[in-house]
Amino acid sequence: MSDKTSSNAMWGGRFAAGPDAIMEAINASIGFDKRLAAQDIEGSRAHAAMLAATGIVSDSDAGAIREGLLTVLSEIEEGRFAFSTALEDIHMNVEARLKEIIGEPAGRLHTARSRNDQVATDFRLWVRDQCDAAVEGLTALMRALLVQAEAGADWVMPGFTHLQTAQPVTWGHHMMAYVEMFARDRSRFADARTRMNECPLGAAALAGTSFPIDREMTAHALGFDRPAANSLDAVSDRDFALEFLAAASICAMHLSRFAEELVIWSSAQFRFVTLSDRFSTGSSIMPQKKNPDAAELIRAKIGRIVGANIALLTVMKGLPLAYSKDMQEDKEQVFDAADTLMLALAAMTGMVGDMTANRAALEAAAASGFSTATDLADWLVREMGLPFREAHHVTGALVALAESKGCDLKDLSLDEMHAAHGGITNAVYDVLGVHNSVASRTSYGGTAPVQVHAQIARWKEALA
Ligand code: ARG
Repeated sequence: MSDKTSSNAMWGGRFAAGPDAIMEAINASIGFDKRLAAQDIEGSRAHAAMLAATGIVSDSDAGAIREGLLTVLSEIEEGRFAFSTALEDIHMNVEARLKEIIGEPAGRLHTARSRNDQVATDFRLWVRDQCDAAVEGLTALMRALLVQAEAGADWVMPGFTHLQTAQPVTWGHHMMAYVEMFARDRSRFADARTRMNECPLGAAALAGTSFPIDREMTAHALGFDRPAANSLDAVSDRDFALEFLAAASICAMHLSRFAEELVIWSSAQFRFVTLSDRFSTGSSIMPQKKNPDAAELIRAKIGRIVGANIALLTVMKGLPLAYSKDMQEDKEQVFDAADTLMLALAAMTGMVGDMTANRAALEAAAASGFSTATDLADWLVREMGLPFREAHHVTGALVALAESKGCDLKDLSLDEMHAAHGGITNAVYDVLGVHNSVASRTSYGGTAPVQVHAQIARWKEALA
């Protein structure tokens, strides 16, 4: 088969000579599409059963094909299969081996089919599995976040905007923010799966077939909701893979943001969290170092995933209908992006499960940076009847005073407060404490522990 003077056994009828070695090298996809072996064989077995049911091939030939394909599958799974570059791709490798095993009936398998609908089917099956795996991985991560949220539902920490202290929030609230984000990621993968779940098989090369095939039967056998309605579209679009990559890109962006927070939080300057030894590494020169490498790598992995998304969009954007060989470039990008995403999800889940939030450090930081200045302004509005703009101004003057004295707002005396506004009473000190501050933010979705507990309860039920 690899003899360059002999033409390809699958399509070489009109060729006098075999391909140049360079042609073979650029053309072959077997080096990577061997990952589609299980899907290819599943698709072929469904196709063979349909060919028999519709009387297009005999029951005995279809039976031999279906049995033989199982033999091929076990050879591949057990690493006993000799993949051939000359046979280009997984489809022809499997069929050629089937012929060696069962002989002449193997030649009937490709009736009413093309590699174009075959690869579109195989790849959809593969990407569909990855959508399911992403949903599962995200669910595990959400569960790990819920455990963290519940443990520290009312622990106070600084909430940031511009990475400057803004207002105190609760640890549980911060964890639950990520639960919401990862839940949307999960639903994006589920949506993509629903849309992609139509079967291309039977579209043949591009135009359908003159054989009396039963497309409902193969679609059903392969777990698709229905056959794809237009044969040209069925073999020529890869939007399902792009949707997976888009969902993966957004999810990787969320993972990257959280990873960035973990890198910051685990630093000696913050000490908000301690990452476990299992998810940290040391330095070969600085004995004291414990580095958040897993978080850093998760932060970086988005580059590959978004890169895959851009690469495939670029491959697809100028292709006339229907199939073009350009589309063979879809697989490596999606394989790498999927592997990367699953690894990043697993690493994040492990890290979140193992990490310890440092309650005291969170609380100490929560009170710094005049984080309750808004509470003071709100109090002036509520209790003194000041317009908010004026309250903002009075509070600003008190912040400047505290800053110049190097103390917190709560450390200012009532006399000092009166310099800014004569009506301020002792009751103001109640709102300057971070616990009171978070407890007061009871609006729906707010940071008050009562709201956070409600969020947690809702998600616990949803994930049960
Ligand atoms: N290896 C090919 C791919 O991945 C399979 C389809 C080939 N079709 C063709 N008409 N040459 O796209």
